[in-house]
Amino acid sequence: MRKLLFFTLAAFAIMACNQSPRVESGVSFDEVLASRRSVRAYDASKSISEAEVRELLLATQEAPSWANQEPSKYYVAIGEEKRAAVLEMVGGNKDRVANAPVFIVSTFEKGKSGFFRGMAVDELGDSWGAYDNGLSNAYLILKARAMGFDTLIMGMRDTDALRTCFNIPETETIMAVIALGYRAQDPSRPERRPLEDVVRFF
Ligand SMILES: Cc1cc2nc3c(=O)[nH]c(=O)nc-3n(C[C@H](O)[C@H](O)[C@H](O)COP(=O)(O)O)c2cc1C
Repeated sequence: MRKLLFFTLAAFAIMACNQSPRVESGVSFDEVLASRRSVRAYDASKSISEAEVRELLLATQEAPSWANQEPSKYYVAIGEEKRAAVLEMVGGNKDRVANAPVFIVSTFEKGKSGFFRGMAVDELGDSWGAYDNGLSNAYLILKARAMGFDTLIMGMRDTDALRTCFNIPETETIMAVIALGYRAQDPSRPERRPLEDVVRFF
């Protein structure tokens, strides 16, 4: 009986250690905002499961999009072969994200957001798709932080190589690659412009 109790407790302890260290429940949205940073050093000893990535990507589906067109698409490199391949496609970011367990390539389908009956409705055209993808990715990185993960959005990437690697059709524009993992050290907060520089009240 004692042995059984011991093994049960040990099993619970191991399960508890393996759980992702989420931001404490009840953490405020402001705390998520404040603790999210671009992380450029990842903990190689921690992995992220496909189920966790699915939970993260479900959050992106709550993002608004132009006429609810949902043009954003995601290609997830979680297996080691694809992960290692993507690492070669992020240029100078390679050393920064070498230990990130997951890379997520974000794209948007062209000719959806900003279009009606095949015609651009205004001067922005497919820029609305890029706008929607940015919104969707904002949800992604904030949800990631709320789950205890860290991210780096990478605009420095080889889109031709990524297109081939994931068989991404020409009907999609490749935007950022997002590294996902756990921070190895706390990043500092880059200075922000004073509000007065960027806001005008009338
Ligand atoms: C569209 C976009 C592209 C970016 N590309 C890179 C990149 O290739 N490499 C990198 O280290 N950081 C990249 N960043 C991160 C920015 O440098 C970072 O967000 C900015 O310095 C503010 O820091 P913070 O995210 O910690 O608040 C990118 C950010 C955005 C939004």
